[in-house]
Parts: sequence; structure tokens; C-alpha cells
Amino acid sequence: MAPTFSERIARLEPSVVREILAAAQAPGVISFAGGLPAPESLPSLTGLDVPSAYAQYGATEGEPRLREAISRYLSTIGLECPPARVLVLSGSQQGIDLVAKLFVDVGAPIITESPTYLAALQVFRLFGAAVHGLPLGDEGVDPDALGRVARARRPRFCYLVPTYQNPTGVSYGVSSRQAVARALDEAALPLFEDDPYREVSFDGDGPRPIASHLERASWVYQSSFSKVFLPGIRLGFLAASPDLFVPLVRLKQAADLHSNRVSQWLALSELESPERAARLDALRSVYRHKRDTFQASLTKHLGALAEWHTPNGGLFFWIRLKTPRDVVSLLPKAIERGVVFVPGDVCFPEAPAPAGYLRLNFSHATPEAADEGLGRLAALLRG
Ligand SMILES: Cc1ncc(COP(=O)(O)O)c(C=O)c1O
Repeated sequence: MAPTFSERIARLEPSVVREILAAAQAPGVISFAGGLPAPESLPSLTGLDVPSAYAQYGATEGEPRLREAISRYLSTIGLECPPARVLVLSGSQQGIDLVAKLFVDVGAPIITESPTYLAALQVFRLFGAAVHGLPLGDEGVDPDALGRVARARRPRFCYLVPTYQNPTGVSYGVSSRQAVARALDEAALPLFEDDPYREVSFDGDGPRPIASHLERASWVYQSSFSKVFLPGIRLGFLAASPDLFVPLVRLKQAADLHSNRVSQWLALSELESPERAARLDALRSVYRHKRDTFQASLTKHLGALAEWHTPNGGLFFWIRLKTPRDVVSLLPKAIERGVVFVPGDVCFPEAPAPAGYLRLNFSHATPEAADEGLGRLAALLRG
């Protein structure tokens, strides 16, 4: 007899991106699919000198010195939060899981941007959330619409990626952030702010987090060590208002006791390194250059077929085909021709999703490979 799974497993959607990434491993395939940092920019892992004390079990909240360093970092971006309310995560993806566990019952309404981060949608749906997507404009979501949905639906929380958003690259300006914070305060709607791309900025620093503008609403702010340090160490962190912090620590304890201490040592060494600022500057230059060469190839190959905004941070171009068509069914043919992308459909909470969007990662492929891959994609779209 087949084993009986929990009823939530019926809602467990396969992650399209994981499956595409698996297909993209074949030699010769040029991948624009994942949000992978440039391999040549990853710091070396040789000669690690991890103190032997880190071999033992540790605290659920994370290493005290790392929590202090994160609290200091948060202060530099305008979010005041003491180390006692910093929780180290096993990747910021874990924060999404913990927040979903904290808030979501089957049928519980929540708000996200539309489009939004596809792996967050996957988690929210697994727990049975009724996801309401607010259209994402060039300046973010409309605060009035946010207020209206909050009053009408009483959502449990609002999930936003306001800095160089995945997938669109949109970054909310200061006044939009303030207006969104006011709407959240008025509705007493908890904010879940996901900010992994903040340091991947090409035109100066992003504005203060929305959480820093809140006066009353509860909040969780999270970020990651994946995008500007090492994704393989699987480390992120969250900071939260006091009412949310305590249950989140308990949920983390139930999930994995604590995050990998060797990874925490590496992250601490990175945050405390005197070379960090110079390293980040160099990384931003590499990515700015990759964005520019990618855009030149996009214009050459897809200029007549598609339109896009130039992202001033993050890792993606969000492409809209001038003549919308089903890009999901195009994907297997693209893989056959040795190029992979994320069909925009999977990033929309609503069904049916708007057709004709593609998310293209520009950080991973070399400029030469990107040019070749975009040429293949254009040929496919024309064919
Ligand atoms: C918006 C967003 N949140 C969270 C994550 C998860 O990052 P990690 O678990 O590597 O910290 C990603 C990864 O791409 C992301 O784009």
C-alpha cells in the first residue's frame, strides 16, 4: 500500500527552477535560470582556520559575535535592531519557511507583490495560503491598494522584496517606502521584508528598509549571505519586532536546532574583514559590467522582440515580449538548443499568469556565453 502523506503534500508544487537547473547541468547549456553569483567572484575556501570550539552544538539564535556584527550592519543600512533580536538562519529561504509556519493556516490570506520570488510562493502555497498579489509598478506596490486589500481581506502578513526585486529588479524609492510603511501601520498588517539583493547595487546604496519606517506594525526583515558572499554556506539572518522574534526562534529550534557553526564562522570573518568594503566594491563593478554587456547583447538579439528596464541592482533582467506568447511551452525547445531561462509565469501568484515574460540572470554566464545564449533564444523566438 502506498504511504499516506500529510494533506499539505498535495499542495507541494515541484520547483520549476530546480527542475530547469537540473536540465541546465548538461555540458554546453547556457543558463540564465538560477540566481547564481558569478563563479569567478566567489571567495576562496582554502586555508580555513575555524576555531575548534565551533565543532560543538551551538545556540539556536546563532553565534553571539555574529549576531552583534549583523546588528551593526543593520544599523549601517538604517534599521536599528539589537543583537538580541537577530536570528541566524540556514539560508534566508529558511526565514520564508519559518514565517509561513508562524502565520499561515489553510486558506489564510496573505499579500505578495505580483510578480514575486517564485520559491516564496512555493512555500506559502504549501502551507495553504490564499495569496493575493498586488501589481508591482516601477515604484513598488500601490500603498492605497495595499490598504484596501488589508481592510477587505485581513491578511496575515505582507511579503515584499523592495530592493532590486526578484524577478523584476524594481526598487522602491524613499517616498514609496514611507507610504507603504504608513499603510501597514494603519492596517496593523505585519511586514515580511526580504532583502537579499541590497548589497548588489550599481548606482549607490538602496534606501532604508521599509521596516525602519514602521511605527506600530509588526515586522520581520531578512537578508542573506548568498548573493555577495557564498551561497554554498547556506546562511542568512532575520531581525524582527519583539512579538514575532520569540516564536520564530522556537520554530527555528524545532526545524534544525541551529545553523551550521562553520558557516557562521565564515560569515563572521567576512563581516569583520577590513577588506570587505573593497571586496564589495569590486564585486559591484564586476556585476555592473556584466549587466552592461548583457544588456548590449539583449539589445542586439532581442531589441526588436522584447522590452525591459535596466536593473540598477540585483541579478536579473525581466523581459516582456512585445508579442506575448506562451513561454512555458518554449522552455523544452530552448533546452534542446542549449539555453535555459525562467518563464515569468511561475513568478505570478494569480492564475492564469500574464503571458510573455522571461526572467534572465545576467551574473552567472560569461559575456561571451551570454551573447551566444541570447542569440539562441532570439532564434527560437523568431522560429
Ligand atoms: C527574494 C529571495 N529571497 C530569498 C532567497 C533565498 O536565498 P538564500 O536561501 O540563499 O539566502 C532568494 C534566492 O534567490 C531570493 O531571491
